Amino acid sequence: MSSACRVTALKDKPMTDEQLIALAREAATKAYAPYSKFHVGAAVESVDGDVVTGANMENACYRLGLCAEQSALTAAQHAFGLDRVARIAVVGGTDATVCTPCGGCRQAILEAAQLSGRDIEILCASGDGSAAATYRIGTLIPHGFGPANLTDAD
Ligand code: THU
Repeated sequence: MSSACRVTALKDKPMTDEQLIALAREAATKAYAPYSKFHVGAAVESVDGDVVTGANMENACYRLGLCAEQSALTAAQHAFGLDRVARIAVVGGTDATVCTPCGGCRQAILEAAQLSGRDIEILCASGDGSAAATYRIGTLIPHGFGPANLTDAD
């Protein structure tokens, strides 16, 4: 089952990093990852404090697997629009290694970032809860190619 769902934050009380990471961790429990057994959850927060989540969803045809970040970004587009994405939390695995977005997911996050001109913040946490690191998409994918490159293409 695909696992994207919506959580609405209290508008006058922005989520802490820990709360957003907790939602990503909860989302990871709904991953469908029977092949890698590597469960990843992502929580995407809008500029208004709305949050949607997603998890990775694998397939017997391995290359068709979907990452948690892209699952959550799809939900974000439906819930409030990619151009309103402010922060993303990612949690994956079971050990102390901080789970950072793969290259494809960085590209997907860059799409949202360039739409709004916002250097989206990405909270990355380890599966065992012992470690976390915060990055900006501009750091994770420097000199990226995105919608801004195509503005004069038509
Ligand atoms: N995975 C994600 O969901 N996000 C990432 O950024 C890295 C990798 C998933 C894909 C696959 O289902 C599993 O983790 C192992 O690669």
